[in-house]
Amino acid sequence: MLYDIDPIESKSWNTLSKLDNIKLNLKNLFENDKNRFEKYSISFKDKILFDFSKNLINEEIFEALIELANEAKLSDAIEAMFRGEEINRTQKRAVLHTALRDRSSKPIYYRGRDIKADIQRVLSQMERFCNNIHSGEFRGYSGEKITDIVNIGIGGSSLGPQMVVEALKAYQIDNINIHFVSNIDPSDIYETLKGLNPKTTLFIVSSKTFTTQETITNAKSAKEWFLKSGALFKDIKKHFIAVSTNKEAVKAFGIEEIFEFWDWVGGRYSLWSAIGISIALSIGYDRFVELLEGAYDIDCHFRETPFNKNIPVVLALLGIWYNNFKDAQSYAILPYEQYLHKFPLFLQQLDMESNGKMVSRLNQKISWQSAQIVWGEVGTNAQHSFFQLLHQGTKVIPCDFIASANTHHNIGKHHNILLSNFFAQSEALAFGKSEDEVVREYEKMGLKREDYQDIIPHKIFEGNRPSNSILLNRLTPYTLGALIAIYEHKVFTQGVIWNIYSFDQWGVELGKALAKNILLNLEKDKKTIEYDSSTNGLINRFKKWRQK
Ligand code: F6P
Repeated sequence: MLYDIDPIESKSWNTLSKLDNIKLNLKNLFENDKNRFEKYSISFKDKILFDFSKNLINEEIFEALIELANEAKLSDAIEAMFRGEEINRTQKRAVLHTALRDRSSKPIYYRGRDIKADIQRVLSQMERFCNNIHSGEFRGYSGEKITDIVNIGIGGSSLGPQMVVEALKAYQIDNINIHFVSNIDPSDIYETLKGLNPKTTLFIVSSKTFTTQETITNAKSAKEWFLKSGALFKDIKKHFIAVSTNKEAVKAFGIEEIFEFWDWVGGRYSLWSAIGISIALSIGYDRFVELLEGAYDIDCHFRETPFNKNIPVVLALLGIWYNNFKDAQSYAILPYEQYLHKFPLFLQQLDMESNGKMVSRLNQKISWQSAQIVWGEVGTNAQHSFFQLLHQGTKVIPCDFIASANTHHNIGKHHNILLSNFFAQSEALAFGKSEDEVVREYEKMGLKREDYQDIIPHKIFEGNRPSNSILLNRLTPYTLGALIAIYEHKVFTQGVIWNIYSFDQWGVELGKALAKNILLNLEKDKKTIEYDSSTNGLINRFKKWRQK
């Protein structure tokens, strides 16, 4: 079980609150310590470099942060998770996504049963299925090869797989196109299906519960579209497969090929399970295994490495430093890697659905901040939209910059230009530009002081804005698996320290329940009077405008 401690009662929290008053300046910190980069960077297997030297920390702060992790008994919590204890207490479930990628031969027991055999059985089923699709042995009802695969799912049953499929496009198998439909908005499925041929299309209905309104409605519409094309009911098995823990509901839908997964896998942690079959279909089963291997190696790193050299732990502690002591409401994820363009979206669910909580594991309202708001966009695009605020705005927004040393496409100077921006932005945020430097620039241009005096304040960059840089050797299935696992464990670490439950998501339920009730109302012709005046007013205008 997880140890309960109100973090603000701990000694280290108290120390950190005092250290918060020290005014640190990144320029001075670097000038005074030539080894700062060596001290505050961690290399992982010569494939990932995590540089956290451009953070507003000194030795004392770093030590106190590490002590905070110790006081929260993080090591015990990590072991509790890996051992399969039911740490998701509000749902009475274990949290064992790590078992899905465990490449060791050791058994993992859950409720007295070795779940490794179950995991291997589903992996073998995935391997067989992928090979059959790729070789053309599995064909549609008309005998044609499958060319298009549509994953129907939402939240964790879509964001993870979609992010990975996009990230690993350079590895995509020829002649297979993967599509994702999530939204209940009819435009999503309409736009996806409009260019597709039912005879060569395979649908994956991905839903842990198989009750999610969006997914089931989209799956039914896909089935209708398929049957309308002249296919028969018996042909559904050739064009629909499912990934779910709810076998009965899948069978009732008419699907025969079911890829099982288990309630000890959280939705937003499920890309490692058969929910990742769209990934394996996109890049091939062997590459999917490489993704698992990268995550597994980070699992070992997380379990075995002292906290001050432990990438997920350090990342988490820095987040806590800014969130709980520096009032940073949000943090930005800035991949300088086009293939990672969905990574910020994926992290939003991972982080905010996990740690966006206000009740502690002691079942009381917390008096400290929990999850930060996660947002971001790829560089360099983001530089031309919101970087102004990062550099000169009034808010503290710590940034995680992510890039790869090697590109999959050596075209002209693109990659060096991209990386020059990656390096420059964290440098600019950290060290800024002083008044003297601005003045010197004008002097070099030969201008008189009175000509530029008023402009000076606008051209000053205060700097001292913190960031992490994560440099991958190359974006591969392995390094991507590792990167995702780093953030998963970062989120876990923060949840442990904030003393909240990171693996439930009760906060999404209320809106779902209200929508069900409202849906019944929308279908009635009479005027709606059941709700508050705003909701009534909106619904009644909708009814008036809606064209049947
Ligand atoms: O509504 C939130 C949520 O439960 C997520 O946690 C989950 O990833 C998503 O819905 C989809 O759920 P399912 O896989 O059961 O359709």
